[in-house]
Amino acid sequence: MNTLDAIFSRKSVRAFTGDLTEEELGTLLKAACAAPVGRALFENVHLTVITKKDLLDKIDCAGAAILQNPSMHPLYNAPVFILVSAKLSGPNDNVGYSNCAGIVQNMALAAVELGLGSCHIWGAVRGINADPALLTELNLPEGFTPCCGLIVGKTEETYAVRDIPEDKIKIAFIK
Ligand SMILES: Cc1cc2nc3c(=O)[nH]c(=O)nc-3n(C[C@H](O)[C@H](O)[C@H](O)COP(=O)(O)O)c2cc1C
Repeated sequence: MNTLDAIFSRKSVRAFTGDLTEEELGTLLKAACAAPVGRALFENVHLTVITKKDLLDKIDCAGAAILQNPSMHPLYNAPVFILVSAKLSGPNDNVGYSNCAGIVQNMALAAVELGLGSCHIWGAVRGINADPALLTELNLPEGFTPCCGLIVGKTEETYAVRDIPEDKIKIAFIK
């Protein structure tokens, strides 16, 4: 698949049928490591690959609680949640958050190439940040804050190049 086909085929997938192989996970993590990071400060970002069912369930519950909908499953029963954390300089550290978003998007595009389903996840991360016990369980390095993540897994959904309206995002041209 060429790069543009991967970009135009990517979509959020929220239904999963199984786990990744070690090789697939390795490819996703390599894609994460290939992401751009501001000033190349790779030591300011951190990945946590969560496959432990008990912990996934706790994050799911914390996310549902913060989103005030106990019946929802903000991790969608995905077999893998890759949490991206950053050493933020403050609440307005836009470089820190942007680093994390770029890492997630790289993995999402790699997931398309591998035929895996994936979805950016920020809602459940709010739940993690509101739960000190859960934060402790994640055992993040000192000073790191969970920013976002990607759920990923095998899926029955397929990818095809999507029709992307040119006015989907408002664009201003200044000439
Ligand atoms: C920053 C960001 C946060 C998102 N957080 C969530 C989330 O917590 N839960 C979810 O189901 N989807 C989440 N999404 C997926 C969006 O809902 C999705 O990208 C959007 O509806 C467009 O659909 P598409 O990805 O299929 O093109 C997030 C996407 C982005 C970029």
